[in-house]
Formats: sequence, structure tokens, C-alpha cells
Amino acid sequence: MAANIVIGTQWGDEGKGKIIDILASRAEVVVRSQGGNNAGHTVVSNGETYKLHLIPSGILYPNTLCLIGAGVVLDPKDFVSELDGLHARGIKTDNLKIDPRAHVVMPWHITLDGLSEKFRGNSDIGTTKRGIGPTYMDKYERCGLRIYDLVHPEIFAEKARTTGALKNKIITEVYGGEAIDIEQMIAEYTEYGKILAPYVDDVSVLTFEADQAGKTILFEGAQATLLDIDFGTYPYVTSSHPLSAGVCVGSGVGPKMISNIIGVAKAYTTRVGKGPFPTELDDEIGDRIRNVGGEFGTTTGRPRRTGWFDAVIIRHSVRVNGLDGLAINKLDTLSGIGTLKVCVAYHTPDGRQIKDFPPTLEGLDGCTPVYEELPGFDEDISGCKEYSELPAACKAYIERLEELVGCKIVMVGVGPDRSQILER
Ligand code: IMP
Repeated sequence: MAANIVIGTQWGDEGKGKIIDILASRAEVVVRSQGGNNAGHTVVSNGETYKLHLIPSGILYPNTLCLIGAGVVLDPKDFVSELDGLHARGIKTDNLKIDPRAHVVMPWHITLDGLSEKFRGNSDIGTTKRGIGPTYMDKYERCGLRIYDLVHPEIFAEKARTTGALKNKIITEVYGGEAIDIEQMIAEYTEYGKILAPYVDDVSVLTFEADQAGKTILFEGAQATLLDIDFGTYPYVTSSHPLSAGVCVGSGVGPKMISNIIGVAKAYTTRVGKGPFPTELDDEIGDRIRNVGGEFGTTTGRPRRTGWFDAVIIRHSVRVNGLDGLAINKLDTLSGIGTLKVCVAYHTPDGRQIKDFPPTLEGLDGCTPVYEELPGFDEDISGCKEYSELPAACKAYIERLEELVGCKIVMVGVGPDRSQILER
């Protein structure tokens, strides 16, 4: 019996999908607990690439129960198209369940996400414009529509009319945007509700029962630690809790169920959207990492910002998530770029050196990285099958990261396929 959590430790896109997929192959239940289709997991399996946004990666295994918890915000249109895509490739989804408490991303949330970003001008957050923030806003304002409502046409129509009228006023009168045709939307979403209905079940109960029955459970994280609404680089964050603790709240289980928390990081750092990034590389090395590492968003296609590995960030993640182990991905991307730099601390503008990630943007402002240099490597490591086969410089790099962040590195990724993970 084991319940593992896989969490992103940087600003997302750490390759969680691959680690999750490996662990999903050993799990009987896979649970997603927060975020929505702002996430994008790319899983490469047997040479086939799957891009998943909402549906847990365990879906590729026919006997794995895949659960979408109450803390998720679900865009039904996108969800249905993801279902269709899987069905078209022969993947069955009978083992998929969605909690009736999960909130629905409505068209006005998407419209308002776009309008409010536009209104912010240069101070925009750089959201994925998937309506995530506005959906969570309504959830906490207690006026959201939930999956239960969506699959009950009368309830849905009534709530959608009342809320929709108010949202249209905000869209048109506050932002000068175009009103949503509420009746047409109700008709469209009622059809999605019919498709979703067979998938609705109590995920808290299903997860508890699976644990009681001694099943292996995997909680797959979406987004990442520095995008957490409280412990990330606020306000350049998402609107949920992508931390290990968020998993418990978002799926409706107690923290004592969790046996192992694995954080995923890249061997360097990337970020999409706006916000601070102390080790960002605005040079040829940054471009090379972006091109070699294919650092373009799965969800939006945006080029990702790239930079050196930042041990200050990972130490923060080790602490706020209580990590038991770390998976380091994409080590292969660093081949041939010469000396490798690792940020071990920050210089503050008032001449101090700090080792803990500052809690505010103001505290981070003007901080510059203190780098340690490590020998690089030129070998193609993508064919390595064992950790021991890695060149000495790679092993030295990994082992130094381990010391700096204070957490055991349990896996090292050397390529996109799930076979290209070296377990330690
Ligand atoms: P939102 O989640 O769409 O509101 O976007 C807020 C911030 O989180 C933006 O900077 C997004 O680029 C970022 N973000 C949201 N989801 C992900 C993800 O899965 N990977 C990386 N960045 C993300």
C-alpha cells in the first residue's frame, strides 16, 4: 500500500508527465486534485505522443482508476475534446471519474480571463487565458457552477441564467466586451453535461476506499510550487495550491494517507508567463537550452524563458512540500554547453547573501544569483540505461545538486521517452 504525490518544484513544465506516467504504470489509482486545462502533460509512450490537459495520465493504462478531484476546475468543452481524442486512438475511459464538487470553467470565465489580462496592460500576469483564475474566484465567492449542476440540466440552466446575466453585465459594462449568448451556451453545455454524467462519482470516497483496500495511489500534481497562490511568486502565480498539501484538500483525503512525496525539477530552470526569474539567461546559452530542450508551452505554444538551475528555489520546494525525493529531468539538454552554473544563494541589493527564497516580489527584487561552476559534459547521454553509465561530470553535477537542495535525487531523466529515466 502506498500513496505517492508527484509535484512540480519550479514554475511548471518540469516533465512531471513522464515521472507521473512511470509511477502511474505501478499505480492502481491516479488522482488529479487541482488546476485545470492550464496544465499540459506530454507523455511519450511507445513512440506515441499524448498531450493531456485534464485527464490523469493513468488513462493510458486500461486497468487504472483515474480520478479528477473536487479541487480541479474543469472546462467541459476541452474535457470532451480530450475524451474524443483518446477514444479516437483506442484509449478507453471507462475508469475515469470526476468529483461532483469540482467547479466548471464557464465561457464567461474564459472571456473575463482575457479581458482582465488586457485591462492590466503591462502589468498582466501572462495567464494561459483558460479561465482558471475567474473560475476559482467564483468558487471562493460561492457563486460557481459545479459538475453536479452541469449534469442536472434544470439546475444548470437556472444557475447559468442567473450568473450569466451578471457576468454579461461585467463583460459589457465594465470591460466593454461582447456579451455571451446565454441560451445558446446552455444548449451547448447541456450536451457536454450528458457526456460527463456517467463519469461523475465521489472522488474522496473512491480514494479512501482504494486506500483502505491497500491499493497503490498516485496523486499527480499540475502546475508547480512557484505558481502556488501563497508560496509562489505572487501575483505571477496560478489560482490554486499545487503543493503537496493541496493534494489532500483537492481530493478530499487526510495527510496521513500520503507515504511518499516526489518533486520534479529540470536540470535547469524554465518559466512561462511573467514574473521574476533570478537565473534567467538572456543569451545564446538560454536560446540553446530552449531549442535543444524544446522549451515551448504544451498548452499555449509560448516560448519558455530559460535559465540555470536554482538551488534556492528547490530548497524552498523541498521545505514547503516536505519532499522525500527529487526527480531531475532533461539532463541531456545540458550536453555540449560548456561549464554548468548552479545558483547556490542570492546576493541582495543591500549586500547580504540569502539562502531562503524571499516571500515577496519586493524581497526578490534586485536579488542576483551567486553561482557555483561545475564541469560540463559533451557526451550524448540519451542512450544511458543506468545511472552508473553517465559520464563522471553528469554524476558530479547530480550529486552536487543533491547536496545543495538537501533532498535525495531518486530519478534522472535523459530523454523524452518514459524509458529514458534512470532510477537511483
Ligand atoms: P493561469 O493558471 O492560466 O491563471 O496562469 C497563471 C500563471 O501560471 C501564468 O504565468 C501561466 O503561464 C502559469 N501556468 C499555469 N499553468 C501552468 C503549467 O501547467 N505550466 C507552467 N506554467 C503554468
